[in-house]
Amino acid sequence: MSRKALIAANWKMFKTPAEAKAFVDAFLPLVAGHSRDEIALFPSPVLLPTVIEAAKGSNVVIGAQNIHFAPEGAFTGETSIGQLKAVGGTHTLIGHSERRQYFAETDEIVNKKLHAALENGIVPVVCVGEVLADREAGKTGDVLKKQIDGALVGITAEIAAPIVIAYEPVWAIGTGKTATPEMAVEAHKIIRAEVAKLLGPAVAAAVRILYGGSVKPANAKELIGQEEIDGALVGGASLKADSFAAIVKY
Ligand code: 13P
Repeated sequence: MSRKALIAANWKMFKTPAEAKAFVDAFLPLVAGHSRDEIALFPSPVLLPTVIEAAKGSNVVIGAQNIHFAPEGAFTGETSIGQLKAVGGTHTLIGHSERRQYFAETDEIVNKKLHAALENGIVPVVCVGEVLADREAGKTGDVLKKQIDGALVGITAEIAAPIVIAYEPVWAIGTGKTATPEMAVEAHKIIRAEVAKLLGPAVAAAVRILYGGSVKPANAKELIGQEEIDGALVGGASLKADSFAAIVKY
């Protein structure tokens, strides 16, 4: 089965509205007509209206880096799915390792967010990945399976189609260290097998699994070009229009 790749930019806590608008204005002409892959930008919530307006009518979709699972309420500092949808956002990251590491997001919270996204028609990109100590202890497979199991509690094959998974080895994020294509493929196979165990072979064959962790123009092809790797989630190298466009057009 051929899966359409998704190449996504996670801007993390970077850019002002003016900088975000300048990026989109420079980026869109560079990827105009590019239909081989889906392209997504994940800016900070305060940038969403600017970026969505600037990208309107283009081949680039926009999502949030995080959402709350509740429809609304007294949750200072959070963004609801309704708010995301009201400004035109269509996607969201869930459970990025920085959310897990610095904001105490657990597999249980990830699961609640995944349910909320699916119930509300938002495409979820669920992030999983091992830390260096896990890898060195030979526990990568166990960690990935546990994160996938936790994320997918109560999810059935009938509602699973929109789910995207991003494999982001934590030791490769922002470090310049990249998983080798062999390491990434091995991890993706573990994730796909776990999805097959929980949701069946059809869902597993269709689910897109992205690689993230120091993806840049120079290594994009060797990673995304792998049959098992269905796109990329890019941090640092997505902040400049020419660099991210080069990754999209790997
Ligand atoms: P870098 O590409 O900067 O390593 O970040 C990866 C990442 O965390 C994307 O979500």
